[in-house]
Amino acid sequence: MESKRSSFSGKIGFVLAAAGSAVGLGNIWRFPYLAAKYGGGVFLLVYIILSVTFGFSLMIAEIAIGRKTQLSPIGAFKALDKRFSFVGWLASIVPAIILPYYSVIGGWVMKFTAGFIMGNTAEMSHDKYFSDYLGQVWEPLGWFALFIGLTSLIVLFGVKKGIEKVSKVMMPILVVLILGISIYTIVTMDGAIDGVIFYIKPDFSKFSIMTVVAAMGQLFYSMSLAMGIMITFGSYMKKEIKIEKSVHQIELFDTGIAFLAGLMIIPSVFAFSGGDEKALGQGAGLMFVTLPKVFDSMPAGNVIGVVFFIMVFFAALTSSISLMETVVSVFIDKLKINRKLSCLIVLIISLFLGISSALGSSAWKNIKIFGMQFLDFFDFASNNILMPIIALLTCILIGYILKPKFIVEEVELSGKFNQKSMFNIMIKYIAPIFLVIILVSSVLNALGYIEI
Ligand code: PFF
Repeated sequence: MESKRSSFSGKIGFVLAAAGSAVGLGNIWRFPYLAAKYGGGVFLLVYIILSVTFGFSLMIAEIAIGRKTQLSPIGAFKALDKRFSFVGWLASIVPAIILPYYSVIGGWVMKFTAGFIMGNTAEMSHDKYFSDYLGQVWEPLGWFALFIGLTSLIVLFGVKKGIEKVSKVMMPILVVLILGISIYTIVTMDGAIDGVIFYIKPDFSKFSIMTVVAAMGQLFYSMSLAMGIMITFGSYMKKEIKIEKSVHQIELFDTGIAFLAGLMIIPSVFAFSGGDEKALGQGAGLMFVTLPKVFDSMPAGNVIGVVFFIMVFFAALTSSISLMETVVSVFIDKLKINRKLSCLIVLIISLFLGISSALGSSAWKNIKIFGMQFLDFFDFASNNILMPIIALLTCILIGYILKPKFIVEEVELSGKFNQKSMFNIMIKYIAPIFLVIILVSSVLNALGYIEI
């Protein structure tokens, strides 16, 4: 099966497919709330610097590993060095941890889509609407089950291609909507401009090691790094396609959408809270608390709300499909079971893990792991612990065992590698040191020694 891999057609096919996987709730939901929480401009600056140095290098390495070995992550790491086989396994666990709580948030998106369709905009714009909703047991569970159920049906029946086509059409509409909503907020709402300044102008007094930890975790999540996804994508990439150029395009696309989503949400938070910075620290609920207020205040906001949330729903669905597909394929390959059974097993595991995340603010709100609710714990464990470990091991393998030349040769198959020197220095020295600092800080943070 692995010897005859199909490949993406055309030059843009690869970039679109990889960008389609990269763009999701990470950009629209996660990035704005982290930027708001971790100091606005300073977070944005750290994120962009990390993205063009560290993110760039790691994405190049992963795509090149995939293209060179023509294997999926587990096979690829094993082929590169037997001692590193476990890294492939570790990378495959990450999507399995993310999928359940991603689907819980997908359920929130469905709930809000339904709310706008039913014309409940005014009710949804109340401050406590979202927290009251999370305080319930059955409804969040129901929407979560619907979202993960839908994802499994699509993965089971292989109608993924159709959904991806729809989502490609929707992506440009989503970008236009995000831009339109940002401009509307900034131009018409008092105080919104202070939000723009907060978001764009770095205030270095707000910098802490946790700014870097959070930005790095977000980078992994948003660019689908350190979870084997880009290795898989690389294995389908034709040799004549330029890896470096493609990575720049994916990066620009992914970071661009995240930046715009922040520009849509953060100024609105300022406008509606009268500039109270405490409103910025709401965490995961930020988008769901803020956007209904914006839609409630704008002409035809109800309709725009429906369209907007449908787009977000599709962006979330394509991402959850690719997360599930990854886990299902690992089970098919390694357990030698059929697709149906594999889907069923992944669905059961996801339901089990997702239920805990869905109930974290209601029935199970008193259960905390390292002081975190289940959803936050899974998010933290994957982005801030597992992914840095996988990235660190990848850097050691490439930088010291195989040597960076191994990747450089693959990249140069299709032309000059412009940022070769930066790649070498990043993979060998800067990234590993950085990753160790990130890991240590994350662990200290979880144990309560450093404040988030
Ligand atoms: N990068 C996606 C996001 O930002 O929402 C999350 C993701 C989707 C990760 C699909 C991995 C994946 F396979």
